[in-house]
Amino acid sequence: MIARVRSLYRIFIPAIVAGLAALLGGSAFSAAAPPALIPRPVTMKIESGRFTITPATKILYTKGDARLADAADYLAGRLSLAFGKTMTAASTDAVDGPAGTIFMTTAGADPSLGKEGYSLVVRGDGVVIRAPKSAGAFYGGITLLQLALPGAFRAPAMVEGALGGRQTVRPPRPADQPNVSTAAPLKRMVVPCATVWDKPRFAWRGLLIDPARHFWTIDELKQYVDYLAIHKLNILQIHLTDHENWTVEVLRYPNLTPEKALNAADPRREKNQTYYHPARHYYTQDELKSLVAFARKRFVTIVPEFEMPGHCGGLLRGCPECGCTVDAKKVGGGEVCPGQETTYKILQNILDEMLAVFPSQYIHIGADECAKTNWSKCADCRKRMKDEGLESVTELHGYFVGRMSDYLQHKGRTLVGWDEILESGAKPGAIGMYWRSGTADELIRKAADHRQFLVITPTENCYFDYWQSPEKENEPQAFSHFVVTLRQAYALQPLPDHVKRIDPKLVLGVQANLWGEMMKSFPHVLYQTYPRACALCEVAWSPEPDGGRDYAEFFERLRTHLLRLDAAGINYRAPTDADRPRK
Ligand code: ACM
Ligand code: ZN
Repeated sequence: MIARVRSLYRIFIPAIVAGLAALLGGSAFSAAAPPALIPRPVTMKIESGRFTITPATKILYTKGDARLADAADYLAGRLSLAFGKTMTAASTDAVDGPAGTIFMTTAGADPSLGKEGYSLVVRGDGVVIRAPKSAGAFYGGITLLQLALPGAFRAPAMVEGALGGRQTVRPPRPADQPNVSTAAPLKRMVVPCATVWDKPRFAWRGLLIDPARHFWTIDELKQYVDYLAIHKLNILQIHLTDHENWTVEVLRYPNLTPEKALNAADPRREKNQTYYHPARHYYTQDELKSLVAFARKRFVTIVPEFEMPGHCGGLLRGCPECGCTVDAKKVGGGEVCPGQETTYKILQNILDEMLAVFPSQYIHIGADECAKTNWSKCADCRKRMKDEGLESVTELHGYFVGRMSDYLQHKGRTLVGWDEILESGAKPGAIGMYWRSGTADELIRKAADHRQFLVITPTENCYFDYWQSPEKENEPQAFSHFVVTLRQAYALQPLPDHVKRIDPKLVLGVQANLWGEMMKSFPHVLYQTYPRACALCEVAWSPEPDGGRDYAEFFERLRTHLLRLDAAGINYRAPTDADRPRK
């Protein structure tokens, strides 16, 4: 342990000294050293001169666009946290930036920046962020903060609307310590003059969190969303249901969420619930609506995942009538019965309520790891297979997915499922998530031939519940024996060769998944997520340079970025010697 701490300090002391100087004075930032942005922008030119932001600086946006107001309000909110003084954004009729202000507008923006791109110009007499759409203006605001010193990210919205950070703890922090900001309020923020032109490589830039295995409060989910947003990630998939728990209030089926809806049969779950003991282990619809609204203001979409037809233990405890019928008796287990109409009726009733809570275009149904154990024995399943000419339980699984996909399409939404949805053939109206590194490659190849849209989230780069280092004795408990190092996370290849040949546009984007089985506390969740999510966000956002991404160059920028995480109070695993770029 001592050796580890020593090596950490060898790596990070220079960065910590530079960061502390910057935190204290705001003047240690040298315009000569290019600011270390993560994710790396498409183009950035640092110029001579600087602009100083103070609590008196006006933040303005062109009148008439509520979403632009969201982008400007968020920037004002973050500056308020950084300065420890309330700042607000105001609308204006201007379409050019008044002198001395930070100005956001969609007027005159370069249309080739698309839905999420922006240009950012910092001059001695002010800042102008122009974007065709307000999401771009939001990301321009994040880049502006990254151009300033790391303390610009001081104290995130730990509790919605609250100002200020809490205690001071130096990194590296144990995984179980509370998540707190280390930075003092700033007096001013010096930003080098710069011109940035930037837009994301992929539209889907996601993380998954799993409250079904370990329940997180709505405030914790909000924090998680806030941290995604400052990494220009835009999707949070929430794994809301599984064998262990059903975490969403459904008014029509209250049995799904008894008070303390824990799976008594899973002692590991009680053991892991060490951090706090919430009164209940499900979210009310109002809580979820408040999360969706919070995320929307940060241009993050909440994609809910309701597992079906497998991973359904929680569902079947509340709605046993969804189970198969074997020897004239209802059976439980993990899967619903795709043979009987009752199952579709109940699931669609549930989805109807959920669609009113989650406006996301994408609705995830999981559909992975379905053992189908009862299906070949169930009278209803056998009849369905005969009636529909289905030759195997795999085809029955495909039939189920197809029906749910049709239902969601009819409601104007798009089904997303893990790569198992492709086992019975491509599902062109849906989105497949490639997760089984190696195993599902052939499936993905075939599906791409049928122009299947995909999100890339392979275990070997994107499973953030896996260990971050093979030195397991120095790490908190992670999943199984698998390891995904920072280097592996950065090495993610978002375009499988075959898909690239057919049409790179079939890949909507990338995602990393933090499954909950081994998570002990919310700081542990953050520790598993960062800094690997810094690598993910760069793969998702930044264009891939000719010759590939350069881990050594990323690692250099990460030194500065970790100071931002410190200022924001985001727990993370400090890289060690083993993570250093190899010579
Ligand atoms: C998965 O990890 N079962 C998608
Ligand atoms: Zn059945």
